[in-house]
Amino acid sequence: MSFPSHRPRRLRATAALRKLTAEVRIDNSQLILPAFIREGISEPAPLQSMPGVVQHTTDSLKRAAFEAVELGLGGIMLFGVPATRDATGSAGVDPDGVLNKAIADVKAEVGNDLVVMSDVCLDEFTDHGHCGVLTPDGAVDNDATLEIYARMAVIQAQSGADVLGPSGMMDGQVAVIRQALDEAGLKDTAVLAYAAKYTSAFYGPFREAVDSQLSGDRKTYQMDPANRREAMLEVELDLEEGADMVMVKPAMSYLDIVADVAAMSPVPVAAYQISGEYAMIEAAAANGWIDRKPAILESVLGIRRAGADMVLTYWAAEIARWLKESN
Ligand code: PBG
Repeated sequence: MSFPSHRPRRLRATAALRKLTAEVRIDNSQLILPAFIREGISEPAPLQSMPGVVQHTTDSLKRAAFEAVELGLGGIMLFGVPATRDATGSAGVDPDGVLNKAIADVKAEVGNDLVVMSDVCLDEFTDHGHCGVLTPDGAVDNDATLEIYARMAVIQAQSGADVLGPSGMMDGQVAVIRQALDEAGLKDTAVLAYAAKYTSAFYGPFREAVDSQLSGDRKTYQMDPANRREAMLEVELDLEEGADMVMVKPAMSYLDIVADVAAMSPVPVAAYQISGEYAMIEAAAANGWIDRKPAILESVLGIRRAGADMVLTYWAAEIARWLKESN
């Protein structure tokens, strides 16, 4: 009988060997916590489709941000849920609007100990739920939307955001935001471009989280899940327009895109493990069908292995707690 000449199992024999030879790790500083702030509530409101995630009050958001600092997270990404909406999303450009106030509150709480990021998009603020304003015949008007994004970006940066995350997939959004920031003297505010953002069924629970008014879909502006090469075009355009970092979203069904972007991007690459990815694992775990903690860790490790430098995940704080305990 002949013996195997190669024995990869040698390095799997003990936890210590496995730890030494792990090719990627998750570090708390690479995790970004997405968080929702809702106007006009006095208690945090749990989300049915995302067990463990809430719409925050100002106080609970500040506590979450403080905890994020203690855990050594990399950042927090803020989304606002306004009490009133209109056709142009005017609450988004109101300095006293829910998101802009939350940015200021969180920044006052964490200073420079946590990167404060905010969503630059209209869907949370419009009464039709689209990421842009509409033409009279109901199409999403790219260029009219850009003007509003530019104003939103300046107000968010003035409120204290370190990094802006334009997520609406309007053509040219990074360029107008960069230009508006520079003209307003906000040259140090960075842009994390949602470069390759796909239209996805996995955004479902997020729509509950922001109380979305959308009927229909976002297929005329978000990318077609069939397209891989097109992600390169989106990333290249955003880089040309001045993106400081680029994002792929969703993550788990798009690991090929994460790997492609990681291979070509000269700037840091983020991936967003979105609401439906969270909900799937939580639901399966709640049914006893999968083991929750290892499933969560494996899912985020896979996104890191594909090449993401940082991961937005609703489990950021919980993962950070686990990793802190195990170190
Ligand atoms: C748009 C935006 C969405 C998400 C983040 N930013 C919703 C969408 O594009 O429909 C989804 C995030 C998630 O599902 O966790 N402002």
